[in-house]
Amino acid sequence: MTAAVRVPNDLEPFWMPFTANRQFKSRPRLLVGAKGMNYTSHDGRQILDGTAGLWCCNAGHGHPKIVGAIQAQAAEMDYAPAFQMGHPKAFELAARIAALFPGDLNRVFYTNSGSESVDTALKIALAYQRTIGQGTRTRLIGRERGYHGVNFGGISVGGIPSNRKFFGTGLGGVDHLRHTHLPEKNAFSRGEPRYGAELADDLERLVALHDASTIAAVIVEPVAGSTGVLVPPQGYLKRLRAICDRHGIVMIMDEVITGFGRLGTAFAVEKFDVLPDIVTLAKGVTSGTVPMGAVVARQHIYDAFMTGPDHAIELFHGYTYSGHPLACAAALATLDVYQGEGLFQNASALSPYWEDAAHSLKGLPHVVDIRNLGLVAAIELEPIAGQPAKRAFEVFLRAYDIGLLLRTTGDIIALSPPLCLTKTHIDQIFGTLADLLKAAA
Ligand SMILES: Cc1ncc(COP(=O)(O)O)c(C=O)c1O
Repeated sequence: MTAAVRVPNDLEPFWMPFTANRQFKSRPRLLVGAKGMNYTSHDGRQILDGTAGLWCCNAGHGHPKIVGAIQAQAAEMDYAPAFQMGHPKAFELAARIAALFPGDLNRVFYTNSGSESVDTALKIALAYQRTIGQGTRTRLIGRERGYHGVNFGGISVGGIPSNRKFFGTGLGGVDHLRHTHLPEKNAFSRGEPRYGAELADDLERLVALHDASTIAAVIVEPVAGSTGVLVPPQGYLKRLRAICDRHGIVMIMDEVITGFGRLGTAFAVEKFDVLPDIVTLAKGVTSGTVPMGAVVARQHIYDAFMTGPDHAIELFHGYTYSGHPLACAAALATLDVYQGEGLFQNASALSPYWEDAAHSLKGLPHVVDIRNLGLVAAIELEPIAGQPAKRAFEVFLRAYDIGLLLRTTGDIIALSPPLCLTKTHIDQIFGTLADLLKAAA
């Protein structure tokens, strides 16, 4: 069979992820440049980045220090084997990451993405329980409306039906807490909603059902991002922590989007004053410039593995690109930028202004809820009858046409800009959105 002749700019071969491929290819939206708070589109327009790429470019785009560090590292050493070998920047970065955490969250295992971090964390939790003589603890608990990436562990504990139903039964022995979204009580809450802390007691119910001796770990996002910014009810995470303590359950917090200043603190663990046993991170660690993720474990988790003969591998897990030199160089420079430019503090200082701006959309056509925390906000729209997700997608398309990048999930518009933004950018984001919502009436 003769291969079809293709022009170099043929859009067909690329099967795009989480994308309406046919819609996109009929009317492409290509980004060709990025600097600071803006992208440049292929037709030469400036697009204000309301989403930090995909919740990752927290330092803004094209920062010269990060760019320079990546370039220098590529020239100095491209790659070093990740198994039984090391390179200095991987150790330096682990110490820098550990220093961002409270307590003894101080052991860092590298991955290349949020999904890999999640599956790594689940594996560490299972292996930890076995290592401490609790090998019957094989059950993993997730939560409805949770997003933990797309690998089999992540979709099993995750709670998004369309991410699960096409892919078989997933891991066995998984159960879910109910989600914490209570619009009838909490709609238009500013920050942490008032009602729902008792939903953490679902974990007690699952303990009663399955017995604690079968449960290894529970994993939750501190703020559920991908299913539309579900901010935890006041006291919820502390209550979950207490139940984990009571029953010897490893608590994993998935900080892939909440990490690196998004909530105005380095991590959500600080914001909510809760110390999980394991944290997953990715995205903001390199400000999205080079793929990287990590799992941060507490001392007792790491120590449990450090037994047996000295020459023996303690954890049979890792990736060829764990702690890749380019990613480490990018991450070290990114952490310098966060610190040197006070970006977490900027996020914190701007949060009240951001909150007011987001809630100023209340009362506009089709707006049924607004939620926010730190530099994150969601505007939930009433779906068009019989056509879920269409209304928000149309707002997304129109916003792009007039120079604003949004993200939508179902009929929820989610915003999570780079942390280097100013009040002027906030005015621009919500001003544009207000105009669009009025026009969509
Ligand atoms: C909470 C959470 N966990 C995991 C992931 C997966 O990360 P990645 O797309 O880098 O695999 C995401 C991605 O958005 C996320 O929001």
